[in-house]
Amino acid sequence: MAYSLPHLRTKLPGPQAEQIIKTDKQYVSPSYTRDFPCVAERGEGMKLIDIDGNEFLDFCSGIAVCSTGHCHPEVVQAIKDQAEKLIHMSGTDFYYQVQSNLAKKLSELAPGGSNKRVFFTNSGAESVEAAIKLSRYNTHRTRLLAYTGAFHGRTYGALSLTGSKIVQKAGFSPLLPDVTHIPYPYCYRCMFGQKYGFCRFECVKYLEETIFEKTVPPSEIAAVFFEPIQGEGGYIVPPKEYVTRLQELSKKHGFLIVADEIQCGMGRTGKMFASEHFGLEPDIMCIAKGIASGMPLGAIIAKAEVMNWPYGSHASTFGGNPVSCAAALKTIELIENGLVENAAKQGAYLLERLKKLQPDYDFIGDVRGMGLMVGMEIVTDRESIKANPAIRNKILELAFYEGLIILGCGPNSVRFAPALIVEKEHIDCCLDILEKIFKKITT
Ligand SMILES: Cc1ncc(COP(=O)(O)O)c(C=O)c1O
Repeated sequence: MAYSLPHLRTKLPGPQAEQIIKTDKQYVSPSYTRDFPCVAERGEGMKLIDIDGNEFLDFCSGIAVCSTGHCHPEVVQAIKDQAEKLIHMSGTDFYYQVQSNLAKKLSELAPGGSNKRVFFTNSGAESVEAAIKLSRYNTHRTRLLAYTGAFHGRTYGALSLTGSKIVQKAGFSPLLPDVTHIPYPYCYRCMFGQKYGFCRFECVKYLEETIFEKTVPPSEIAAVFFEPIQGEGGYIVPPKEYVTRLQELSKKHGFLIVADEIQCGMGRTGKMFASEHFGLEPDIMCIAKGIASGMPLGAIIAKAEVMNWPYGSHASTFGGNPVSCAAALKTIELIENGLVENAAKQGAYLLERLKKLQPDYDFIGDVRGMGLMVGMEIVTDRESIKANPAIRNKILELAFYEGLIILGCGPNSVRFAPALIVEKEHIDCCLDILEKIFKKITT
């Protein structure tokens, strides 16, 4: 059967979309980064349908959120069933069965053998805020480490840890004090000019010999905030040895490791949590995005002995609301029953097809990823590896007008983050469109 996506019925944007965008431009905050004139109306699996009936192939899944595809019927049913029973009573003061069940499930799923406890939030940034507070409370220390290129969210604590784009910070100071950014192990562009496989982990040496000896007393560090795969920064996979060394440093100096799995967690990388690829048992793990297939929900999962804050010290009115929890329980059931394996299998195929394209196009600098978290870094040429955001942006734009939704990440990378239900046919279709675009760009 010939694959039927994408299917564009009007020029883009269509007439109804144009009207809505006009109203939106007048009334909605100008801070949003809406690069494509797409007014999302309906979604079904890998398909996104706009207000004018144009059908797109969605390879961004609401920025790695709609993990089970758009409006998975079983998730929709779980939401309906819960909404008919109870929408809110406030988990701060009352118990919900779905919330307790979800906490139990997440505790069991979290990497490592120690007992865990869960605190619920409504978003990624709120999870990061909770992790900042908990790590300071638990260690009685104040200082935090985060990485260059990191994205942890936009509330004040999370923003202080973010090291992604200047526009996100400019004009918003003062931020949280005592945050130090250290180099992310981004081997394609090693800050120390080294090559992975031949280096002696200068990035770790820099931590030990410069940061810990000259600028930040390690005995004052509460936690290091680490994305096991850096997301917004460019879908960057660190070497496993780096994570091992980081764990050694955390043990030696007594600081916690907070894994921000908000983008890379919930089955996306072909394991339930990306930390598992690196043998990492985080002291605290932040999750959100893909946990509830699009319903607003986040959480931190911490080692039970770490989550020692007392009665009344932290809470959230909406956090862990029953409808989102019901959606999360169903989402996890689907992820466990085949989607995590599918992410590993289809992700490997996607990576293989992108790698096959690489020799023909000198602007494909690097192709990397795990499972369905795949990035393609666009450069002027592979010799200079000079970042080329202009070509990257052109690729995203042309893809959109071909009916393929892909987003960028980092200054010059294309991100592929389809739903975990993606099939080979979708990947072939995506790659065929890309190849057509690449030919257009190079002729
Ligand atoms: C790794 C990571 N942490 C935190 C966040 C912030 O999440 P939210 O936008 O839900 O606040 C994001 C969002 O992109 C993220 O990718």
